[in-house]
Amino acid sequence: MSQIFPGEVFANTDEFDTGIRQLLPKYDEMLEVIAHCLPTSTRRILELGCGTGELSLKILNRYPEAKIIALDYSPRMLEFAQAKITAAGYEQRWTGVQADFGDWAHHPAEFDIGREFDACVSSLAIHHLKDEIKFKLFQQIADSLSHHGCFWNADPVLPELPALSEVYEIAREEWATQQGIELAAVRAKVGTSNTQGYSNPDQLATLDTHIHMLAIAGFETVVVPWKYYGLAVFGGWV
Ligand SMILES: C[S@@+](CC[C@H](N)C(=O)[O-])C[C@H]1O[C@@H](n2cnc3c(N)ncnc32)[C@H](O)[C@@H]1O
Repeated sequence: MSQIFPGEVFANTDEFDTGIRQLLPKYDEMLEVIAHCLPTSTRRILELGCGTGELSLKILNRYPEAKIIALDYSPRMLEFAQAKITAAGYEQRWTGVQADFGDWAHHPAEFDIGREFDACVSSLAIHHLKDEIKFKLFQQIADSLSHHGCFWNADPVLPELPALSEVYEIAREEWATQQGIELAAVRAKVGTSNTQGYSNPDQLATLDTHIHMLAIAGFETVVVPWKYYGLAVFGGWV
């Protein structure tokens, strides 16, 4: 298997958009929930781990006045995102930055991306951080939002019981079958990754742990607008 950065998922980046929709149940619905949770007045958005730009596109399509600064440490993923954004005619509203969001959490002054964001969003990326770094990132996000700004994250969560792991696995298998492919065949396209910067292969935390961390990090209201087996969208307002 090819060596990739944690979070790139597929050995060939051009297989990401199709493969992720086979690997994860309701990927599009999950990202749409994040887009729907943003207030219509949202203008300045920070995205962490934009990948090939699927969440960015959903947000830019829905909010014509929104602009996104999108961080990702993978030049391969950013290249795909930039091409998609340009093809959609959104290049004036989207800025890709090659950076590790763990670095941003620890050394924000070294980043020329500003503060006072109306919203911060992320999908399928933060679960690669160890819990203490997740917490540090949540604090930095809270500090970087404007008054009443919001944060939405979509991520896999750790099953609270071993029995649930099996339930979630079956849900994934059935989903892949519904898409016309066996889950094992999709997984065969997944690359292997080691630690890269602050990210590691999956470092899942339970939904309760995330909610607790967000509350301590400075989010006044923490909610879970969507959950489907082992995937959840959670976040809130400062
Ligand atoms: C599974 S992809 C998801 C991409 C996109 N958000 C989506 O939902 O389709 C995760 C992305 O997070 C990026 N990533 C993971 N850890 C990162 C880090 N510490 N700093 C910046 N980007 C990171 C990976 O390069 C990858 O593009």
